[in-house]
Amino acid sequence: MLERPSASSRDWIRTNYCSSLGLEHEGKRVTLFGWVHRRRDHGGLIFVDLRDRTGLVQLVFHPEQSLESHARAQDIRNEFVVGIKGVVTKRPEGTANPNLPTGKVEVVVKELSILNECKPLPFSMDEGEVVDEAVRLRYRFLDLRRPELQQKFIIRHQVLQEVRAYLSGQGFLEIETPFLTKSTPEGARDYLVPSRTSPGCFFALPQSPQLFKQLLMVSGFDRYFQVVRCFRDEDLRADRQPEFTQIDIEMSFGERDELFQVVEGMLAGIFERVKGIIVPTPFPRLTYAEAVSRFGLDSPDVRFGLELVDLTEGVAQADFPPFKKVITERGVIKGINLAGHQLSRKELEGLADDCRSFGVEVLSWIKVSSGQWTSGAASHFPAPAQEWVSQKLGLKEGHLLLMAGGAESGVNEALGRVRVKLANKFGLLAPDQWRFLWITDFPLLEFSREEGRFVSKHHPFTSPVEEDIAKLKTKPGEVRSRAFDIVLNVTEIGGGSIRIHRRDVQEMILETLGLDKRAAEEKFGFLLEALEYGAPPHGGIALGLDRIVMMMVGASSLRDVIAFPKTNKGMCLLTGAPDQVSAKQLQELSLKHSTKK
Ligand code: AMO
Repeated sequence: MLERPSASSRDWIRTNYCSSLGLEHEGKRVTLFGWVHRRRDHGGLIFVDLRDRTGLVQLVFHPEQSLESHARAQDIRNEFVVGIKGVVTKRPEGTANPNLPTGKVEVVVKELSILNECKPLPFSMDEGEVVDEAVRLRYRFLDLRRPELQQKFIIRHQVLQEVRAYLSGQGFLEIETPFLTKSTPEGARDYLVPSRTSPGCFFALPQSPQLFKQLLMVSGFDRYFQVVRCFRDEDLRADRQPEFTQIDIEMSFGERDELFQVVEGMLAGIFERVKGIIVPTPFPRLTYAEAVSRFGLDSPDVRFGLELVDLTEGVAQADFPPFKKVITERGVIKGINLAGHQLSRKELEGLADDCRSFGVEVLSWIKVSSGQWTSGAASHFPAPAQEWVSQKLGLKEGHLLLMAGGAESGVNEALGRVRVKLANKFGLLAPDQWRFLWITDFPLLEFSREEGRFVSKHHPFTSPVEEDIAKLKTKPGEVRSRAFDIVLNVTEIGGGSIRIHRRDVQEMILETLGLDKRAAEEKFGFLLEALEYGAPPHGGIALGLDRIVMMMVGASSLRDVIAFPKTNKGMCLLTGAPDQVSAKQLQELSLKHSTKK
């Protein structure tokens, strides 16, 4: 039954993509290729929706136009690959399909060539059909055939073209950096690659091209960018993949504001040209301290209010024992006025449970009803305390107040998350609202209880604020950095900094991070040395391309915008990677064999 037109057969050359056909083509002879999206046999006539990556067009097989093609069309099934020759015709009166861009025409088939068959599908490819994701990933080549998924990759492509054109236009050079590189302690766990030629030694796949792009600045390239794959062996989530793509940028001599302008121009350009949305520039800025204090998170969603307000001073006047205890233990009480939004007792208790997992000791709520504070804690608040809190939060009749008490970081994080959860629940997020925001003035270091030492908030190559360098030895936690993040709605889409370009400062930071001179030399000797050979002042940023595209296409997981993604367990269900390798391969790499668990 299969019949392939020979490749050299000149008259089997595609004349059009399916979706390009309209009334203006009436009478045109066309050659089309694609997949059978749907077939309907109406006795005398057979209708087929032919699909290619641009869309659908209806084919019609009349026995009187081509008896042979009509007979063969009875054998074709969904997802068969076919080529046809036919004539574009206006659909008969009353049969146009207003939901299809090509709905005013159909192609009357004169010749049909079945190029390949398709087994019964493992899942339904109909739009909107809910299919287990594991099955979709196992048959990703079919999953990717779905028009709604293809559309996402077309957008991804457009974004990439915009990025390259814009940055090239701004004088940035795209330079590739190695994938097989040295393992350096930077944040996440490395993916290691054993070396055959240096037994017992390993390459690491880069977590980012951070050090190479800095070296390119030392080399004088001045403005660099790269659309680059990064690899991190970390716990995965909907917005984290083990291999993902960054738009990586670095420039010499420019100050932070110049870099911000470049990035703002790039993002605004992408949104305008790919989505037709104008985003105002410059983007607003918020310091890290303000973001965390007002919104609880360092990637705050500023599309809605529900801000966190510190109530510790006023609540200190109340005699509610759980809050008293928090205040005595130097914790804080913070509140959110949910205004007229209501929550059931069960929902409030659910929130309290959520908050506890972040270390919040007590979550309490107050309802203002008939001019009175009601709820368990209300009676513990004397009138002046009620007055103080009401004023601070603008509490009015019918309002609901949430108050959380505990260590400051836990309270902020818990209420920060509650805030976002409730905004979703209350429908406060208008669609197509794009709020870009710079977060600046991050602390340079944070104390890791797990590791019992200070770790970099961004990475060890971030410059401290000049006047804070003296505090590195005495109060490392108070040293401010020259790092920044860029946030879109509630997602961190990028991070960067002005870098250290002096060896002495870099050594000091590495020492604060617990690397003595020898360890610093061993791990970062090549960087330290380069800094001594005329390293220019420089800075840069990396933007998460997958995250940006995910948001632009309205997907809820990175897996929808990465062609062949990994599961949350870091596996590729299509190929079965990671997998065992042969004893011979291991032997060549001087590795011992171990069996799969
Ligand atoms: P950072 O680690 O902040 O910075 O990464 C930059 C951006 O990359 C995205 N991103 C991820 N996307 C998907 N999956 C992941 N696992 C993942 N991890 C990070 C985020 C993030 O904002 N070298 C520095 C940048 C610099 O200083 O120039 C770096 O990599 O959107």
